[in-house]
Amino acid sequence: MEKGGFLVYVISFLLILLIYILLKRNERESKRKAKLPPGSMGWPYIGETLQLYSQDPSVFFTTKQRRYGDIFKTYLLGCPCVMLASPEASRFVLMTQAHLFKPTYPKSKENLIGPSALFFHQGEYHSRLRKLVQGSMSPDAIRNLVTGIEAIAVSALDSWAGEHVINTFNEMKKFSFEVGILTIFGHLEACHKEELKRNYSIVDRGYNSFPSNLPGTPYKKALLARKRLSKIVGEIICERKEKRSLEKDLLGCLLNFKDEKGEILNEDQIADNIIGVLFAAQDTTASAMTWILKYLYDNPKLVETAKAEQKAIYMSNKESDSQLTWSQTRKMPVTRKMILETLRMASIISFTFREAVADVEYKGYLIPKGWKVMPLFRNIHHSPEFFTDPQKFNSSRFENAPKPNTFMPFGTGVHACPGNELAKLEMLVMIHHLVSKFRWEVVGSQRGIQYGPFPVPMHGLPARFSKESTI
Ligand code: HEM
Ligand SMILES: *[C@@H]1O[C@H](CO)[C@@H](O)[C@H](O)[C@H]1NC(C)=O
Ligand SMILES: *[C@@H]1O[C@H](CO)[C@@H](O)[C@H](O)[C@H]1NC(C)=O
Repeated sequence: MEKGGFLVYVISFLLILLIYILLKRNERESKRKAKLPPGSMGWPYIGETLQLYSQDPSVFFTTKQRRYGDIFKTYLLGCPCVMLASPEASRFVLMTQAHLFKPTYPKSKENLIGPSALFFHQGEYHSRLRKLVQGSMSPDAIRNLVTGIEAIAVSALDSWAGEHVINTFNEMKKFSFEVGILTIFGHLEACHKEELKRNYSIVDRGYNSFPSNLPGTPYKKALLARKRLSKIVGEIICERKEKRSLEKDLLGCLLNFKDEKGEILNEDQIADNIIGVLFAAQDTTASAMTWILKYLYDNPKLVETAKAEQKAIYMSNKESDSQLTWSQTRKMPVTRKMILETLRMASIISFTFREAVADVEYKGYLIPKGWKVMPLFRNIHHSPEFFTDPQKFNSSRFENAPKPNTFMPFGTGVHACPGNELAKLEMLVMIHHLVSKFRWEVVGSQRGIQYGPFPVPMHGLPARFSKESTI
């Protein structure tokens, strides 16, 4: 071999080796170097909690998203968090990699609702309970509730009509509570219903108060009322067992459940899930309905459009002296789109919380074990990338289905809302009677949103209702 040829051979070999080593190192580095997402952590411990709570949370998130992109870190309520504002990231956390992210709630809230309620759980227990809850809220189950919901809506609306001003949100809460009771227990004796209602309202008041165990504080009162709720549910179960009735409402499903080993649910598990469903159902639905009334009031054209659709159904039922049917509620395309647009605009569940159960890498970023992860539904719903003119109420945009994972008012994946069809049904029935027979005006000129913790129009949207005299 020639001398020069040998040198070229050696040099090429060394070069290839060098490139190989460099590449390998790079690969290892990029694996190890999966770095934390960008973002600021604020002051130790309180972090950026004050910034979040002292302003509209969507402003907080949008400002961050603009500065750092779709993935950023922050520090909230004593916990490091990664916030995710893209459809793909929501899908990753809530659907495809859901096993790596567990639900997480403050212990004080968990104790108030009941630690066995399904939304605190993951895995076997969660999916078992979820099937039961979903079963009792499937279209097949709730189609039997239309007449009951209609009766509740009509009696609510009749009680609002008059000179007095009502707090729309509070009244909608009463309505969604009644529907919740109907779904869970079927027709319940008035005395039980009253006791549940009064004790539950104490729990509700304590939910957002400071968790203190001192006697007399709202939180402590709420815990005591919660104990009484379990007792009342226990009594209802007793009576039902005596009657041996096999109802297909949620309580019936929970009572009849047996797993493969023949194990049944104990009374705490049943009570926790019943209170859990009542809790998940009430403020969410009430807030959505309050927003619909506001958007409709702000835009008289919308009322006219809804009225045209609903009054046709109303008049035909009136002529034949019949009640609203399930199939009629399935043929209200205009109103249905208004409901979807309301859910997008108001984004009642602005975001949710999970906790990483292991170190997870996403798009080159490290999400360390124990960190909170927050998919930001509201930011996605208000992104001009997915919704043109996002700040504009335009229900026609729902003539075409939104892109996958860009519209998640009810969440997505294993914990997605099992009550979503029921919630939409309640809203359709309420709007049907509202726009067919009533007029309403919002009282006061105060605009704005209050968070408690769901967004609600300022002061619960005070309004006056009157029955239209032309019918
Ligand atoms: C407009 C009204 C409603 C909205 C916007 C809403 C929204 C949501 C969302 C976003 C989730 C998922 C939370 C997460 O992934 O962390 C959820 C879960 C849940 N919702 Fe709803 N919801 C509504 C009404 C209802 C109603 C009427 C019921 C029952 C009657 C209900 C029962 C539940 C339950 C039990 C869960 C927990 C599911 C699980 O963890 O597997 N919701 N809801
Ligand atoms: C709460 O429930 C109990 C029954 O356990 C009942 O005696 C009581 O009147 C209820 N409390 C309120 C404030 O309604
Ligand atoms: C509402 O949305 C539809 C469909 O995206 C669009 O064609 C229409 O121009 C929008 N209307 C207004 C007033 O923005």
